[in-house]
Amino acid sequence: MSLDNDIKYWKLDSIWGSAENMPLHRGMEWLLRKWLLRKGIEALSDKKVLSGGCASGRIEFHMENIGVKHIQAFDFVPEFVETAKRNASARNSNAKFFVGDMRELSCLENAHFDYAVYLNRMLCFVDDAGFDKSLREIRRTLKQGGLFLFDALDYNGRKWNELLSFFLKIAWGLQGAKIKPHFLPRVRNKDKRVDLKFWKTDQNLLYWFTKDELEYKLRQNGFKILDFAKEADIFTDPKDSIIFYVACEKC
Ligand SMILES: C[S@@+](CC[C@H](N)C(=O)[O-])C[C@H]1O[C@@H](n2cnc3c(N)ncnc32)[C@H](O)[C@@H]1O
Repeated sequence: MSLDNDIKYWKLDSIWGSAENMPLHRGMEWLLRKWLLRKGIEALSDKKVLSGGCASGRIEFHMENIGVKHIQAFDFVPEFVETAKRNASARNSNAKFFVGDMRELSCLENAHFDYAVYLNRMLCFVDDAGFDKSLREIRRTLKQGGLFLFDALDYNGRKWNELLSFFLKIAWGLQGAKIKPHFLPRVRNKDKRVDLKFWKTDQNLLYWFTKDELEYKLRQNGFKILDFAKEADIFTDPKDSIIFYVACEKC
């Protein structure tokens, strides 16, 4: 998919353009509180946070409630950014929102942020090249010792991914196309119904990582892993098995 098509996809998947009051996944909440507050609330007051894929500002307003004072957040859908700005002024929020693509953030200075927060599977929305570019931008804009907090999809966390992959290989092959392993379409649409077009080659794909692969990529790109958890590692009653919650440090 081209960038324009990516943007169109997100506009159509419009729950995110008005999701500012939706509660956060408890894993996200856990990751944010654990690492933002690791040195206490006072230590957070001068910390600068870069937040990726803000849509209507839900995660940014949440971080402000935790105690973050300086947030710059971006999304590549201009309409979402406008909504986030309106929501910010209605809430007297100090968060600053701008239009940007995580693969190219040249508007931001080097070594400026203490934290980069890319939650809600941001790194699963790009291809291999996009992943490398995004990670490079995060590393460039973080200070030495800055933390990168994110979540990502676990390929082995969903039992039927292998079967889906196999089916797609055949379905795409019959359409004269080749699907890359671990890039999978959404099988349910925003109304939570099965999307009957999921086997078509024009679908927006998500990348599902294995733990080893993600750890390797982070190390290769100069990050030290501090936390790599799933709900089962965090909560006594895990409900979700497909998301990794990760904290790593620029070294
Ligand atoms: C799943 S939504 C999450 C929105 C918001 N973070 C939340 O949880 O409420 C992902 C967001 O990332 C944005 N996005 C996807 N790819 C992006 C990219 N390459 N650069 C910037 N934003 C992107 C989409 O426009 C969308 O708003």
